[in-house]
Amino acid sequence: MGARAVNARLRRGDPVDPDELRAFAKGLADGSVSDAQAGAFAMGVCLRGLGEEGRVILTEAMRDSGDVLRWDLPGPVIDKHSTGGLGDCVSLVLAPALAACGAFVPMISGRGLGHTGGTLDKMEAIPGVSAQISEEKLRQVVGEVGCAVVGATGRIAPADRRLYAVRDVTGTVESVDLITASILSKKLAAGLEALVLDVKCGSGAFMKSGDEALALARSLVTTANGAGCRTAALITDMDEPLAPALGNALEVGISMEVLSGNRDAAPRLHDLTVALAARALALTGEDEDAAAARVSDAIASGAAMERFARMVALLGGPPDMDADWRAHLKRAPVVGDVVAPADGVLTAWDGEALGLAVVAMGGGRQVETDRIDPAVGLSDVRPLGTRVARGEPVATAHAADEASAEAAAQAVQRALTLGEGFAGPDLVIGRVEP
Ligand code: URA
Repeated sequence: MGARAVNARLRRGDPVDPDELRAFAKGLADGSVSDAQAGAFAMGVCLRGLGEEGRVILTEAMRDSGDVLRWDLPGPVIDKHSTGGLGDCVSLVLAPALAACGAFVPMISGRGLGHTGGTLDKMEAIPGVSAQISEEKLRQVVGEVGCAVVGATGRIAPADRRLYAVRDVTGTVESVDLITASILSKKLAAGLEALVLDVKCGSGAFMKSGDEALALARSLVTTANGAGCRTAALITDMDEPLAPALGNALEVGISMEVLSGNRDAAPRLHDLTVALAARALALTGEDEDAAAARVSDAIASGAAMERFARMVALLGGPPDMDADWRAHLKRAPVVGDVVAPADGVLTAWDGEALGLAVVAMGGGRQVETDRIDPAVGLSDVRPLGTRVARGEPVATAHAADEASAEAAAQAVQRALTLGEGFAGPDLVIGRVEP
């Protein structure tokens, strides 16, 4: 009766009943709600919407469908979530930087989705790392190091896992209400005090327009705050890769460069990491400018690198990642430049096409069961605004074989636009405050 009643209310456009929605989420988790009922629900939400209150109720109900972590630690428990982009390895730098600033970061991360990379796949590009760990191990690593970048245990928001799989095959992924509840149910189950969101906007993001990104950012911020977690969002540019490297080991490598204090290796990655970490610390009461200075220092001094290396060692990776990371990361056998087909200024990258080129090289999954090749991808991707002459490199391809390198070179050339004059958007385009 419960699932039918929920769907009947949605059909009529009536407000949702909190108790019925909670029972529905439990039913998703324990299997008593059928796939047909879940599909009808997802379509009902897509067509009718839940409204602000209903979105909070669904998020809380999905969060509470599994374990919700509680912490007793001598500092704030905080995290960051990105809606997904290219060369976005912020998590690998931000989590240890926040830990070095005295915060605790249980960062439950996901795998690559579509053309975008996933933090979990990046962590697993480090030999030996096992990011799929028990709650007990998560507590140990967070307690000892201050951060753990890992996958969700099977007991985190099981209602979302079920509903996401149904949405995937029923054409109901693209609903701001459902995306909001899906993202937040998992993040809030980690028991956070504050959360900063990085909502990406541009050719390499899922949200291509500023209006779409703003709508999602507002929905996420109001819902997370409504569910009791202090949350703010930055809307950030994704018209070009955030770091000049795409692909799992290559993104770990560029993150290690930044953690070595080499800001110039990836200035946009560095600066956005500092901005997001400072916003997260400010949500716990710290002055934002002072927090930004502390985070920059933690990166420049090597304190963040030290945390990262200890985390990697506890997760089963090499014991000396800080000293010898170049030796540990797998390299592709074929490495070659991709050159500009004409003279001009780089005025646009088709970000989605770049991401798909890396997926086609084996750096992402075409189907869920695909194995990722951590070594492949692109490096030295030139930033927008760079003037190039015909035949000059615009990127370097790292491929498993010559044919794959050639296909990637063609895809990269198709993804670029050469013109004259360029004035790009700011890295941080907007903010949504609690
Ligand atoms: N990521 C999620 O976790 N859920 C969505 O619905 C979309 C992106």
